[in-house]
Amino acid sequence: MDVEVKYLPFSCYIFSDLFFYRENAWLYILATFIVLWIVVWLYRDSVEIEDFANKYVFVTGSDTGFGNLLCKKLDRKGFRVLAGCLTEKGADDLKRVAGPYLKTVLLDVTSQGSIEKAMEWTKKEVGDKGLWGLVNNAGRSLPMGPSEWMKVEDFHSTLKVNMNGVIAMTMTFLPLIKQARGRVVNVASVLGRVAANGGGYCISKFAVESFSDCLRRDIHYFGIKVCIIEPGFFKTAVTSLEPLERELHRLWNQLSPEVKASYGDKYLDKYIKIQRLIMNAICDSDLNKVTNCMEHALTAAHPRTRYSAGWDAKLIWIPLSYMPSFVVDIALKLVLPRPSKSV
Ligand SMILES: NC(=O)c1ccc[n+]([C@@H]2O[C@H](COP(=O)([O-])OP(=O)(O)OC[C@H]3O[C@@H](n4cnc5c(N)ncnc54)[C@H](OP(=O)(O)O)[C@@H]3O)[C@@H](O)[C@H]2O)c1
Repeated sequence: MDVEVKYLPFSCYIFSDLFFYRENAWLYILATFIVLWIVVWLYRDSVEIEDFANKYVFVTGSDTGFGNLLCKKLDRKGFRVLAGCLTEKGADDLKRVAGPYLKTVLLDVTSQGSIEKAMEWTKKEVGDKGLWGLVNNAGRSLPMGPSEWMKVEDFHSTLKVNMNGVIAMTMTFLPLIKQARGRVVNVASVLGRVAANGGGYCISKFAVESFSDCLRRDIHYFGIKVCIIEPGFFKTAVTSLEPLERELHRLWNQLSPEVKASYGDKYLDKYIKIQRLIMNAICDSDLNKVTNCMEHALTAAHPRTRYSAGWDAKLIWIPLSYMPSFVVDIALKLVLPRPSKSV
């Protein structure tokens, strides 16, 4: 006779539950650990330093773009902003829109004399407080284009500002930063992670990345933090199409007839068209995405080592930078035009 078993004894349920729990115990522990880690990370990331009013921050390249916006935002927050400007006009324009505590100084980061003058001025301004933050933001992108089109001076003109300038500013201002146990915030780029363009720009930004990494590892014993900002493409003078295209024409015109022939008559036009298409598609006009990262690096109790800003940085460039070189090679080959005499 068949007996229908409707109910299992209570102990069977307990044993089956225990068995299920044992089987998945590691999953539960891992999930709990991940959730805890995220909560602790978010909390740590949100803790801010205090007393902005007694902290001095020096920003290079404050005439326009990210540097200019950052100075205005830090000024509104109550920081003592020392804005290094390349031109008198840039300095005057900035002073006109800022509060009484923002001060400007003329600074050309390619001149050691100019850097030392700015440092002496800063030393007097900060007194015994030292310098809380140095933001190495000044930079230039031109000329950019196919590597073969460059002369050695074309590489150097960019390296002088973006690489030598960052190193010279940091080394000259380091004693003041050490005094305040402050921060160095270096503006690199996603092009310091993926070398997508010929010329000095990518080389200089790769250099900023490695200089910052070395410095951070050497100097953390003294309480100094070194942060790297890696913006994607944003609408500023650096990405402005008119000067980029003017420089491409200049590079093309300095080529020998043989080199021009190897690329073909149509190459320059095709290159410019593709560049326009890409820049118009990816350049973001919200510069706050970058300055928010810079602000976090200066105001967080526990600043991050690297900040990537912009959707293209997060979705395209940073993931691409972790891929094997051949993936980037193929991607660029698909996008860029082909010289007429290519093999
Ligand atoms: N825009 C982007 O898509 C992007 C992406 C990644 C990284 N970045 C980096 O972000 C930083 C700021 O650039 P930005 O986009 O804000 O462009 P920007 O408006 O051209 O800012 C660069 C600033 O640096 C100044 N500068 C140039 N040469 C200098 C020198 N020798 N000494 C001192 N200052 C100098 C420029 O002055 P003048 O205007 O008078 O020339 C300008 O004010 C740069 O390091 C750039 O490489 C930009």
